[in-house]
Amino acid sequence: MRLQITDLCKRYGEVPVFEHVTFDVAGGEFVAIVGESGVGKSTLLNCMAGLDRWDAGRVMHDGTDIGALDAEARALWRRRHVGFVFQAFHVLPHLDVSQNVALPLMLLGERGAAAGERVARMLDAVGLSGLGDRLPQQLSGGQLQRVAIARALVHRPSLLLADEPTGNLDPATATRVLEVLLAQTREQGAALVLVTHSEAAAARADRVLHLTADGVR
Ligand SMILES: Nc1ncnc2c1ncn2[C@@H]1O[C@H](COP(=O)(O)OP(=O)(O)O)[C@@H](O)[C@H]1O
Ligand SMILES: [Mg+2]
Repeated sequence: MRLQITDLCKRYGEVPVFEHVTFDVAGGEFVAIVGESGVGKSTLLNCMAGLDRWDAGRVMHDGTDIGALDAEARALWRRRHVGFVFQAFHVLPHLDVSQNVALPLMLLGERGAAAGERVARMLDAVGLSGLGDRLPQQLSGGQLQRVAIARALVHRPSLLLADEPTGNLDPATATRVLEVLLAQTREQGAALVLVTHSEAAAARADRVLHLTADGVR
């Protein structure tokens, strides 16, 4: 896996959020992205996932130019290769825990017994075995984020993008959830790009990138 961000620029109207953003992420690497509030960290992560468009520059994933894909091809690429964890969990309230975790597999057309086993294994891996039948409203914030982590990794993406995933959690829970996130990412050999305000989290990274309006340093 290799993700190459080259001279990326994002504007809203005339105003650039950031420009000249260039960096690579190699397979299995853990890269932390830090920077002031409003500098464009979420926007950058959304561009890397093909969820947002940019105004100049390139995002390449294993030789595929993500900006050149149409919306459908981009969605398919994302389903196959990318997992995403958000600060606000984004667990679907009307689906139970197992159904939430199974969602990426369903979108890829994987249903059957193997998919069920994979979901059970992921729930076990994040410490939620036995809770598959619960609805999200019956879970704590830390448990909800574990559901989101299991869902983000269930389809074995090569790239996991996490946007302040512990930002809504108390410090002790945040530490435990970060451990689960790092352990599972490493176990699967996925690359992790983590946006964080936590110095403790950044200290664990292979590389820390500071995002500014004029690139990363
Ligand atoms: N849809 C939008 N329209 C206009 N400006 C936006 C939009 N979304 C985000 N922004 C602006 O882009 C900048 C970067 O936002 P964001 O990526 O959320 O920053 P961060 O995650 O680093 O806090 C902010 O100044 C924000 O106000
Ligand atoms: Mg943000």
